Amino acid sequence: MSLPRMQPKDGVAWITGASSGIGAAVALELARRGWTVAITARRLELLEAIAERAVGLPGRIVAHAGDVTDADAMRTVVDGIEHVHGPIALAFINAGMAPYSKDAPLDLGALDRAIEVNLLGVARSLFPVLERMKARQRGQIAVTASVAGYGGLPGGPAYGTSKAAAIHLCQALKLDCDPLGIRVQVVNNGFVDTEMTRRHNRYKMPLLMPAEEAARRVVDGFARGGFEIVFPRRMVWPLKLINLLPYPLYFALMQRFANRRRPGSPGADP
Ligand SMILES: NC(=O)c1ccc[n+]([C@@H]2O[C@H](COP(=O)([O-])OP(=O)(O)OC[C@H]3O[C@@H](n4cnc5c(N)ncnc54)[C@H](OP(=O)(O)O)[C@@H]3O)[C@@H](O)[C@H]2O)c1
Repeated sequence: MSLPRMQPKDGVAWITGASSGIGAAVALELARRGWTVAITARRLELLEAIAERAVGLPGRIVAHAGDVTDADAMRTVVDGIEHVHGPIALAFINAGMAPYSKDAPLDLGALDRAIEVNLLGVARSLFPVLERMKARQRGQIAVTASVAGYGGLPGGPAYGTSKAAAIHLCQALKLDCDPLGIRVQVVNNGFVDTEMTRRHNRYKMPLLMPAEEAARRVVDGFARGGFEIVFPRRMVWPLKLINLLPYPLYFALMQRFANRRRPGSPGADP
């Protein structure tokens, strides 16, 4: 079965985690390319400000507030969007957080919070939209994970563990969704200049990218349709290769990275 790449004529786009950063920039980029975009996050006033910025663009943005950790709220949001604006053709499940880890090497609270938003929040957002796409045998879904999910990184395992699980979820879903006519993609990017990285990362982030540039690459990736949307390649491919190395080499390289990054990093990886 050939999988569809969704276009504005197929329905609306839905983005979670769109009150700031990558999600907000992707919403504006999709509106520039003619999409009606429903955006979700907890801070309604920020969502409304993003919607206001889309006035005059070929598409438009509408705000539907909700917390991705609340499964009932996500069902209500999806029902509301489809009732008012029509079928969700493209879902960008992007909401995420980087927890501050105060207890090294393992902060249970941080792990709990990261899994709650970055894994269970992803699944709770996906579930209602997947049900609807399954009934229609048509749709496109992309999830924001991170290059931090490729392999263990120093500086607190909470974020990376949650992102590794998100990548795994997407890989498994792709296999099961392909026969249903639903395209599944994962976005694994490096450092992007957003609220999250500004708040947490007190070290110089290599190849830091503006959110608008990241958004163009994400939206181009939706249009190309490949499973993994990755950037910047100069960061992604070395990390992929490092993860193929035997463990003694892998750990030696990661330890060098850790020594360069300390002091003062609380452990928010890209
Ligand atoms: N920036 C990077 O370098 C980088 C690199 C790789 C991957 N990522 C991933 O990219 C995604 C977007 O992050 P960002 O960098 O753009 O950071 P950001 O500006 O902090 O955006 C995070 C978004 O997620 C939303 N969010 C957080 N918790 C939520 C919840 N419980 N329910 C609903 N929405 C929630 C936030 O909105 P509210 O607070 O209004 O709810 C906000 O809109 C995340 O998944 C992040 O892990 C970022």
